[in-house]
Formats: sequence, structure tokens, C-alpha cells
Amino acid sequence: MFDKIAAKYEQKRTAILPLLHIIQEKEGLISSEAEKNIAEYLDVPVVHVHEVVSFYHLFRQTPKGKYHFSICQTTACALLGSEGIIEHIKDRLGIKPGETTPDGKFSLSAVECLGACEIAPVMQGNKEYIGCLNKKKIDEIIDQNS
Ligand code: FES
Repeated sequence: MFDKIAAKYEQKRTAILPLLHIIQEKEGLISSEAEKNIAEYLDVPVVHVHEVVSFYHLFRQTPKGKYHFSICQTTACALLGSEGIIEHIKDRLGIKPGETTPDGKFSLSAVECLGACEIAPVMQGNKEYIGCLNKKKIDEIIDQNS
């Protein structure tokens, strides 16, 4: 499968993002072993792959909950209350950004601008963007996914 994707690019190493997406889709995260395998395949240093993985918040290096809250904490969202949203999730679930509930149902991240400032405060809940966040919306999501 890697060969088919890499063949679309003039330089094999520029296939790094689609390859990482495929691995994460399949395994749920990008492990250090996966970073090593990609580095070998693309013939680049492992540190290069690791830098890409750690730069993009969409790539996960640790297991996440079945429902993952990614709350934007950048200016527009911060001005419209994202910190209070994060505090509310912390109170409801007992986890801080970077943590997962013990039952594996929820995890929380505080992330940079999601590019949807016009509907701030914004979060990404798994793959869905949800804007104009408030505590009631968060409570509904938690109740639906508990
Ligand atoms: S500042 Fe939050 S989406 Fe841009």
C-alpha cells in the first residue's frame, strides 16, 4: 500500500503525511515503531518523522478515548470562553488536557487554531467540528457518549 501512495509523488519522502494518516487510521495512533518504519521506508531520519508527528495535532502519539475533545485555545476561541469549556470538561470528566478517562471513553486536548474562528469557540470532537461551544453542548456530548 505504501508503494502505491508514494508513487503519486515525485519525491518519495513527500508522501509522509498521507502515509502517517493511513497508519493512524489503521492503528489509532503513531507509535515510535511506526515512526521508525516510515523513516526507513522514506529513507529519512526518524527524528524527521517524529518532528512531523509532533507538529500536527491531528497525529496522536498516545491512545485516545473513544470520544476525543480537541478544544481550540487560540485567540478568537480564548476570547469567547474556550478556557471555561476546558475547565468544564475537566470538572465533568476529571481529566486534564493530554489525559484519557480510566474507562477509555473520553480524552481531552487543548489545541491551536482549528481554522474555524468564525464559529468560535470551536472544538473538534473526533472528526467533527462543533462551533459556538457552551457547557450545555459539552454536557450533551458527554451524556451521549457515556
Ligand atoms: S482561534 Fe479557535 S478556531 Fe481559530
